[in-house]
Amino acid sequence: MKDSKIILIGDGAVGSSFAYSSSLLGVGRELGIIDINEQRVEGDVLDLTDALSFTYPKKVYKADYSDCSDAEVVVITAGIPQKPGETRLQLVDKNLAIFKDMIGKVVDSGFDGIFLIASNPVDITTYATLKFSGFPAHKVIGSGTTLDTSRFKKRLGELLGVDYRSVNAYIMGEHGDTEFPVWSNANVGGLNIEEWRKTHPEVTEEALDKAFDQTVNAAYEIIDRKGATFYGIGTALTAIVRAILNDEDAVFLTSSYLDGQFGQEDIYVGVPTVIGKTGAKHIIEVPLSDEEKEKLDHSVKTLKEIISNSQL
Ligand code: LAC
Repeated sequence: MKDSKIILIGDGAVGSSFAYSSSLLGVGRELGIIDINEQRVEGDVLDLTDALSFTYPKKVYKADYSDCSDAEVVVITAGIPQKPGETRLQLVDKNLAIFKDMIGKVVDSGFDGIFLIASNPVDITTYATLKFSGFPAHKVIGSGTTLDTSRFKKRLGELLGVDYRSVNAYIMGEHGDTEFPVWSNANVGGLNIEEWRKTHPEVTEEALDKAFDQTVNAAYEIIDRKGATFYGIGTALTAIVRAILNDEDAVFLTSSYLDGQFGQEDIYVGVPTVIGKTGAKHIIEVPLSDEEKEKLDHSVKTLKEIISNSQL
């Protein structure tokens, strides 16, 4: 990997999981960390530096906003986290105020790279980043339903008895309660799931629905047990950052800006997106069934209502 600088804003559980996983996987040559809790950053820098002696060379340090000026990617995980029982959308107002301040400072540094946002509700905070930064939309990306899609593939793989990497299936829409599975193009090694079921009668519709229910409730299950989710999302962020730094043109279900695609505009939502050096290069308009299109419209409507009732 060529020289590449990442700035992480937000050194809580998600941020430090990203810092750790990106260090283990050798993503980025330089990682600056910003958090209002400076002691926490200092502790993490020392701890991560210890870990790095067993992995890849990398410069890890406590950064300030001026360090964003020549970064390739600014990853934002800062914000108030979800409490048990709280939906991601209930966090909006608390987090928008924090975002306005942070994004202003990043832009003032002269930063000209890609914003990758993970703070919840991610589709709204990503939209807010677009508005607060004035950046072109392809340079502002949210983690979207990237993690949900991988949770879904994993559960489908278990159900179908194949490696999840050979399952092609998307979760699209809001990263939250209105997200939906795209059954119409879900396939195993190219064979549509409906076709697969003809020779595998044990794969019932109920079992498939359950795989989706477990996907949409995964974060609640984790938060109930350990208070927060962080390894999954932290590592998903590492995969997206790697795609940007290496100009991979890999497809992720990022929260991307719709400008007419899927008949929607001026909204961020989880859709299949080609990710590379310039950010969100292209949105793949997969065909949706009428029911799936209705679900996407419902997700967009839900998010637009939140936006119109917010300070945005
Ligand atoms: C989750 C958090 C990132 O889904 O929203 O785990």
